[in-house]
Amino acid sequence: MFNTTICKELDIEYPIIQGGMMWVSKTELSSAVSNAGGLGIITALSFGSSDELRSEIKKMKMATNKPFGVNITLLPTLRPINYDAYIDVILDEEVKIVETAGNNPEKYIVKLKDNNVKIIHKCTSIRHAKKAENIGCDFISIDGYECAGHPGEDDVTSLLLVPLAVESLKIPVIASGGFADARGFVAALALGATGVNMGTRFFATKEAPVHDNIKKAIVNASERDTILILRTLKNTMRVLKNDLAKTVYEMESKGAKLEELAPLLSGLRGKESFISGNTNNSLIACGMAAGLIKDIPSVSELIEKIISEAKSIVNQLHSL
Ligand SMILES: Cc1cc2nc3c(=O)[nH]c(=O)nc-3n(C[C@H](O)[C@H](O)[C@H](O)COP(=O)(O)O)c2cc1C
Repeated sequence: MFNTTICKELDIEYPIIQGGMMWVSKTELSSAVSNAGGLGIITALSFGSSDELRSEIKKMKMATNKPFGVNITLLPTLRPINYDAYIDVILDEEVKIVETAGNNPEKYIVKLKDNNVKIIHKCTSIRHAKKAENIGCDFISIDGYECAGHPGEDDVTSLLLVPLAVESLKIPVIASGGFADARGFVAALALGATGVNMGTRFFATKEAPVHDNIKKAIVNASERDTILILRTLKNTMRVLKNDLAKTVYEMESKGAKLEELAPLLSGLRGKESFISGNTNNSLIACGMAAGLIKDIPSVSELIEKIISEAKSIVNQLHSL
């Protein structure tokens, strides 16, 4: 059951993907997802250099013999990034799945495809999804308005984006944004998706390499406890509504420019807070799905629960 196209094409047992998460998607979490039958994706930019990424890929290979991917996030950053060096390491280490996000990955497509890498492009609109299909991406992960991180500027929810993407594209679509349990999983398949991508749900698991305070903050958050910031920069981000996020929001509403905001946006704040457990002094990407999250299970408990409950839901639906 649930042996969808993505399972066959990526050789995974369940169509459950753990999206790349800055500072979070490292071997501890991502190998656990792959070992539990899903697809774990480590985030290249969590590693300060391509050499560090190479070490992490080697660590992943020791921790799992199942397929895994590497996320390359092409968003504007405060420091210049040598993407080519990261891509070269991915190819050199023979990673076969890449998740691109944030911007058009066209520049890297030929190189990746020539090396038989399957490309999952994550985007937030149908027009960007169509473009990604045209340039040769293999899967689209479509991130609805509910999602953690960057939901884009259109504010269209997953309930609409997923079926619209499915009917607009020939390549398989992965539903992302707002999925956290078996109900969402079955709903995503009903909308025509080949699987689900989850960030916030995997963030609050035992294996996520972040301080327990951060995980508890996700568990304690309701669906109303996230906030959209950086809208004024057209780089909207959904984060936990904590002290820093409220400050940034207020500064933006008073017309603050990037130069003033920059010290508050530094990704290193996130890195530090994920270690220290301070839930108020960094921007913590968090989706509305936090409202559905009530526990901190292990990754295998989570995936097994989603699959077994999804089977029950499908049976219940049959009986209607
Ligand atoms: C803490 C955190 C960090 C994230 N960092 C990234 C990132 O660096 N690159 C990226 O493409 N997506 C990032 N995301 C987004 C996820 O990969 C995924 O697309 C999103 O969380 C899906 O929505 P959901 O949170 O409702 O499941 C992040 C999400 C979280 C929760």
